[in-house]
Amino acid sequence: MLSTKKGLLSVLLILLALFIAACSGDSGSENGASGDDEGNNAAENEGASEENEEEVTIVYATGVDTTGATQRQIEVFEEEHPHINVEYREMPADTGQQHDQYVTMFSSQSDEVDVFNGDVIWSAEFAQANYAMELDRFIEADGIDLEAHFNGPIQAGNYDGKQWSLPVYVNASFLYYRTDITDTPPETWDELIEQSEQLQGEGGTEFGYLMQGSQYEGLVTNFVEIIASYGGNVIDENNNVVVNSPETIKGIEKLAEIVQSDFVPGNILNFKEIETENAWIAGDSVFARNWTYMQSSSNDEERSDVAGNVEIAPIPAGDEGTASALGGWMAMINRYSEHPEESWELVKFLSSAEGQKIGAVEGARAPTVESIYDDPEVQEAGPLFSNPSFIEGLRTAVPRPVSPIYPEISEIIQIEVSRVFTDEQTAEEAAENMQSKIEEAMME
Ligand code: GLC
Repeated sequence: MLSTKKGLLSVLLILLALFIAACSGDSGSENGASGDDEGNNAAENEGASEENEEEVTIVYATGVDTTGATQRQIEVFEEEHPHINVEYREMPADTGQQHDQYVTMFSSQSDEVDVFNGDVIWSAEFAQANYAMELDRFIEADGIDLEAHFNGPIQAGNYDGKQWSLPVYVNASFLYYRTDITDTPPETWDELIEQSEQLQGEGGTEFGYLMQGSQYEGLVTNFVEIIASYGGNVIDENNNVVVNSPETIKGIEKLAEIVQSDFVPGNILNFKEIETENAWIAGDSVFARNWTYMQSSSNDEERSDVAGNVEIAPIPAGDEGTASALGGWMAMINRYSEHPEESWELVKFLSSAEGQKIGAVEGARAPTVESIYDDPEVQEAGPLFSNPSFIEGLRTAVPRPVSPIYPEISEIIQIEVSRVFTDEQTAEEAAENMQSKIEEAMME
C-alpha cells in the first residue's frame, strides 16, 4: 500500500515538474512589490511576455467604498497587467450581509467572483468550508515577505498553519473628539461617562457619545474591546472559553450603562458605523467611537461640519488599560475561481506596498505594511499616519476569536449583550449564557 502511494507520488511529482516547465515561459509575475529577491522561477520570468497572454477578466468584490480608493487600485493594476481586466462588484456595507452573500455563492461552488475582500474574522471559516484558496504556494513562489506587515492581520489570515488571505488594510478603533469643545479627552470609561454628561449640548452638539449599539458584528467589536480593557476575553490561547468572568461582567455593565444613558442617541440600538459617521460629521456629538477611516470624512470640508475640529485619542481604558478591536479587510481568492493565477496577481497587488499606499492616500485606509507610514505622500494624506500612538494602536489591536465557527460565536455574543441593553437579563446572566452556548457550539 505504502509503496503504491510512493509510486503514485513520484509520478505526480514528475507530472508537476513537466507542467511547471511547460508553463514557465509565460507565468511572469509583475511587480514583486514585497521584497522579491530570491531569484526563484516566478521572479526570473518577470514580465516575460505579457503581451502574448490571453486577455482574462476577473471579478473583484468589496463592500461599498465611497472613497474611490478601490477604483484607483483597479486602474493602476490594470495598467500594470494589460492582459487582466478587473470587473468591480460592490457588496453591502454591513459585514454580516456581505458574509451571507458570499456563503450563498460559495456554498453552491459559484465562480461569479474571483477575488474578494474578506473581513479579518472570516479566514478560518472560509478555509474550513473550502471557500477560500490557500495562498502559500503563491506566497512562496513570489517570495512575499509577510514580516513586512503588522502581525495581527497576518495571523488573522492564517488558519491551520496555512495562509488564506492577505491584508488590504487594517482597522483599529479610536475615540474621536471635538477639539472646539475639549482639549482633554477622557482616558477611562468613567471619565467618558462623566465628560459626556457634562459636555453634551456644547458646540451645537446634541449628544455626548456615539458608538455602535445595533445587534450586528460591529457590536461584537465594541464588546470585545471594552471587556479587554477590564481584562476579560472570550476564548483564551488554549482555545478555552473564558467569557464568564468578573472582568467580562464589568465590561458588559459599563457598556450597558453607556447605551442606556441620556447622552447617546435614543435610537443607539440602530447605530452601525454609517449612522455614527453621519451624526458625527453633522456635528451632533462631542465624542464618537469609530474606525480609522473616519479621519477622512471628519476632515473633508465638503462633507463635514466639523472639519478642522477633530482629533483622536485611544479608546477609554478600564481597570487593565485601553484596548481596540482588530478590524480590517483581507484579499482572498474564491476556491472555485477559474483564474487563480490572475486572481493571485490582484491579491498580491492589493496587499503590496504599492496597492496599500493607494488605499491610504485615496481612502485614509491604514496600511499593514509598516514602512508605508514613512512615506511623505501617505503622511500628507492623513495626519494620523505619522502619529506614533496611532500606529501603536494598530499594532496592538485585540483580535476577535479565530474560529471556523466564528459566525455562531458572534451571534451568541450579539444576542446576549443586546438582551442586557434591553433589560431582559443582567450582565451576569449574559456572561453565563455566552459561556455555555459558545462551549456547546464549539463541541458540535
Ligand atoms: C469594520 C472592520 C471589520 C468589522 C466591522 C464591524 O469594517 O474592519 O473588521 O468586522 O467593521 O462592523
